[in-house]
Amino acid sequence: MKLIFLGPPGAGKGTLAVKAVEILNVPQISTGSIFRSAIAAQSPLGLKVKAIIDAGKLVDDETTIELVKERLTQDDVKNGFILDGFPRTIPQAQALETFSTIDKVINFDIPDSGVLERLGGRRVCRMCGFNFHAIFNKPSKEDVCDHCGGEVYIRDDDKPEAVQKRLEVYREQTAPLIDFYREKGLLLDIDASPMVDEIAVSFKKALGL
Ligand code: AP5
Ligand code: MG
Repeated sequence: MKLIFLGPPGAGKGTLAVKAVEILNVPQISTGSIFRSAIAAQSPLGLKVKAIIDAGKLVDDETTIELVKERLTQDDVKNGFILDGFPRTIPQAQALETFSTIDKVINFDIPDSGVLERLGGRRVCRMCGFNFHAIFNKPSKEDVCDHCGGEVYIRDDDKPEAVQKRLEVYREQTAPLIDFYREKGLLLDIDASPMVDEIAVSFKKALGL
């Protein structure tokens, strides 16, 4: 199955994706995670995008589209994939149509208050990228990842100024994709406010699994 996870920053896309990967046995492709790995490796891509991401703005369409286009040529996407955080603009969605089909778009519905609560407490493993939360899902040992032992840190773009910018960018550039995909009959709305196990149940139901 070829899915898109669409929703505001902090809606829980990455968190549900971990469960969805197990349910569907397809890889998660998170453009945000790919950019963060590039930044950590200080690669040319990482150096190019670091300041943009830290400020909560979007990386340019051309760079992002090329990255995903190339990723979708790899062998592990034969049975499908979950695109987490792509497309994020109408030009990205139009470009995607030229190199892949999509079965469904999962729209994570959550109010701004929920987003702020989630991003305010998010902690991320620097090595494996797992998302923890200071209240809802703490690592057993402070600042140490339960899964790989990596250091757990606060993302630079989770600082309050960057979060406000990301929400603004979401409303202006990404939210129009809701109607874009609804008109194509691909959109499935999911209430993203409950805890993740409950969302996973709605996710399966929405897909008829
Ligand atoms: P990206 O990494 O995609 O960030 P985002 O869309 O802002 O989304 P987040 O990762 O912040 O949130 P999420 O929905 O995954 O929530 P999570 O599961 O972590 O992108 C980062 C940046 O890269 C962008 O700002 C942009 O600059 C650039 N970029 C990426 N893609 C791009 C593109 N296509 N074009 C241009 N630029 C691009 O959950 C959040 C927190 O809540 C966690 O702490 C988690 O533990 C907790 N939580 C999650 N679900 C629940 C739940 N159900 N109950 C309680 N707590 C929960
Ligand atoms: Mg994410």
